[in-house]
Amino acid sequence: MTRYEGRVAIITGAASGIGRATTLRLASEGATVIALDLDAAGLEGMRGEATGNVITRACDVTKADECRAAIDFAVTEGGRLDVLGNIAGIARGEHFAEVTEAAYRQMMAVNVDGYFFMAQAAIPHLLENNGVIVNVASNAGLIGQAYTVVYCMTKGAVVQLTKALAMEYLKQPLRVVGIAPGGVDTGLLRNYQMPADVDFDLVMRYTGARGMAKPDDMANLFAFLASDEARNIHGTVVSSDGGMTAG
Ligand SMILES: NC(=O)c1ccc[n+]([C@@H]2O[C@H](COP(=O)([O-])OP(=O)(O)OC[C@H]3O[C@@H](n4cnc5c(N)ncnc54)[C@H](O)[C@@H]3O)[C@@H](O)[C@H]2O)c1
Repeated sequence: MTRYEGRVAIITGAASGIGRATTLRLASEGATVIALDLDAAGLEGMRGEATGNVITRACDVTKADECRAAIDFAVTEGGRLDVLGNIAGIARGEHFAEVTEAAYRQMMAVNVDGYFFMAQAAIPHLLENNGVIVNVASNAGLIGQAYTVVYCMTKGAVVQLTKALAMEYLKQPLRVVGIAPGGVDTGLLRNYQMPADVDFDLVMRYTGARGMAKPDDMANLFAFLASDEARNIHGTVVSSDGGMTAG
């Protein structure tokens, strides 16, 4: 497929998991992808597997100036900007009462500030091309989950960023959509640890009955949502969670 021929996308969190799969997928469909991550070595490993045009750049999305510089870089390298994929994120299992101020601020910075800074810098360029923002939220932004209160707060913010931006740009040539994955087999989930003394009855409520998804499941959905085939989808957060949030 060449749905993305001539298009330029910028993807955060591109060194691993969902961001990596999405970068490889869009590039394979003809996009020039500007791939951002804190993990420069991981970016190079990913680029080694790309079948299309992937340009890597180290970027800490918690820093507004780095986000703006990355968007400028993308427009300079690609000549235009069509797609922003806000994907970089972190998660932790923790007792609410034990969350430190530093841990709280770090999760807010990556999962919320990063999405905000990238969107604000990208929008003027996206407006020139009927562009699209795809924000990766989570099932944790749609339902409450024990021992991940701060993560749930950040993902709820991503859901509302998606909807509120969609309303503000309702009459302008920009689409804003979201993806709410359930469990996906990535580094984030593999390294995820719960405190030893949690009540597993509470945790079991949000483990999927159908097993974990693969990063490619999310990349497939992303590639559809950011394409012209999804031109009527605006302000929607699409769940891909094996029914986890259905009832
Ligand atoms: N894996 C899941 O089960 C799951 C479920 C729901 C939502 N999500 C969301 O999907 C997104 C991608 O997660 P993943 O599962 O692919 O995780 P991952 O850990 O495999 O990838 C996340 C990437 O983000 C990068 N990153 C972290 N902090 C950064 C920063 N400050 N600046 C730039 N890059 C940074 C990491 O280096 C890593 O490469 C996240 O937003 C996550 O919350 C994941």
